[in-house]
Amino acid sequence: MAVYNLTINGKKHQVDVDPDTPILWVLRDNINLVGTKYGCGIGQCGACTVHLDGNAVRSCSLPVSKVAEQKITTIEGLSESGTHPLQEAWLAHDVPQCGYCQAGQIMNAASLLTNNPNPSDEDIAAGMNGNICRCGTYTRIKAAIKTAASKMG
Ligand code: FES
Ligand code: FES
Repeated sequence: MAVYNLTINGKKHQVDVDPDTPILWVLRDNINLVGTKYGCGIGQCGACTVHLDGNAVRSCSLPVSKVAEQKITTIEGLSESGTHPLQEAWLAHDVPQCGYCQAGQIMNAASLLTNNPNPSDEDIAAGMNGNICRCGTYTRIKAAIKTAASKMG
């Protein structure tokens, strides 16, 4: 076990965990931030996507010992009031079906728009490629990202 001081959604948290513990489980089990979901556990589905200094990462494959000073943002911290343009576009397009993958989809999309504020269809397809939705909401996800991009732009 080791003590880590983490900055999560702008707040400091101290946790005492095994250095190999994936950040996903620190978030869910130690901090009680359960919006970030467990899907595959091997970096292949995107359900666990969070931001590390603004960039999308798979939290299931990121040991707590590798985070250091980098700031973690989860779906709970993307916008305090839940009114990030992507969240509003998700509602407007009625994107989720079962909802399980959607926090990861939104976090990945937020990172995509930070790096490319005006993505083409191809950019969206490439940027969202690693986020799996078993319910097949891909068409609505793409439409919502385009709506959010135009609002943010
Ligand atoms: S649970 Fe992390 S990528 Fe699938
Ligand atoms: S909405 Fe069900 S897995 Fe994506």
